Amino acid sequence: MTITENETPSASADETAFGDLLDKVRAEFDAQFTWDYERGRDGLNRLYEKAKRAQWNVSDDLDWSIDVDPERMVRLQQEVTGIPAGFPARSLLDVKGSPVAGWDDDKWVDFAVHSQCASLSQFLHGEQGALLCTARLVEAVPWIEAKYYGSTQVVDEARHVEAFARYLDEKMPTTYPINENLKSLLDAVLTDERWDLVYLGMQVVIEGLALAAFGMMLGTTQEPLLKKMLRYVMADEARHVAFGILSLREIYDDLPADEFRLRQEFAYEACEQMRRRTLNAELWPSFGISNEEIQAALPDREAQRRFQRILFSKIVPNCKKLGLLDHRDGWLRERFQEMNIIEFEDWENTAEALNLEGRVADKEGSDTGDSAGFDPDNLEGVEVIEQPVH
Ligand SMILES: [Fe+2]
Ligand SMILES: [Fe+2]
Repeated sequence: MTITENETPSASADETAFGDLLDKVRAEFDAQFTWDYERGRDGLNRLYEKAKRAQWNVSDDLDWSIDVDPERMVRLQQEVTGIPAGFPARSLLDVKGSPVAGWDDDKWVDFAVHSQCASLSQFLHGEQGALLCTARLVEAVPWIEAKYYGSTQVVDEARHVEAFARYLDEKMPTTYPINENLKSLLDAVLTDERWDLVYLGMQVVIEGLALAAFGMMLGTTQEPLLKKMLRYVMADEARHVAFGILSLREIYDDLPADEFRLRQEFAYEACEQMRRRTLNAELWPSFGISNEEIQAALPDREAQRRFQRILFSKIVPNCKKLGLLDHRDGWLRERFQEMNIIEFEDWENTAEALNLEGRVADKEGSDTGDSAGFDPDNLEGVEVIEQPVH
């Protein structure tokens, strides 16, 4: 893959060039009306009330006048966290014959800047995928509470696309194209006509992974604009993951065994695809190193493996909450054991973290205890995830 430079399209960027930037995915699914406007799902009602109160504005609530020097930020981050620039790839430095064996500190700082660009670019493209998936859910889900809540998520996701696109454009040197594995998972989720698989693929797997990745970036970056942006986005994402859990629990309770089995397999395949994604395939070629070369060195590196594993720390407890781990004699549990990520099964699941269960909405559909509105200093669901260093 090649790097896309941030440039304003030139005057010659005509319609054909613009057409190259479009990518269609054909899908057939049922858009569903419901004539049942009763709101009996307390968890979803509560989540909807939270979402309406938690709206923020990219233009007004973030300080875009902050000057960002990506290289200086990488050096500062290295100094404050003690994590060497370019980690975990940097652990390849001491591997004999590794393609990065001759890299000096400046090269690693440059790599770290581009690695940050690559991560933010995947966040950006993933956010657009979430925008499309959630618009789909609003049409396809049969419950009025889920259509209400889903509509707030559509606004949230548009805001996230706007935020990451603006940050990359104004503050970072470059934007990378979408990772192939992420694109093929998004395509699979968007083309499936079963709306619960849109939930499972997007709300549980992709957003669960994003929540962990954002949490890790939040724990390391020293850049104030990015820090604030990540905190705001994470508070929204925690609601989105909870939306998936609350909705899926209801339908999974009644799903026939063979159908449930398909959901287990889908969850596993989506996780496998996302595990391969962390290789950063779009980044290495721009440093003159082929993915084959780096692949040959990476799998044996414990630092890289630990880094990959922690990204699943949100997905595993949420799959457990949905009953996916232990159905069919623990089929998914075994797969997660093979992937070495079962250790996260008892971490807090996202619906519990947002305190969405065991409380009842009042008559108007609003709930008690959440009337404060948007409080930027007290955002629920924002959790720093420590990057494993050794
Ligand atoms: Fe998002
Ligand atoms: Fe989201």
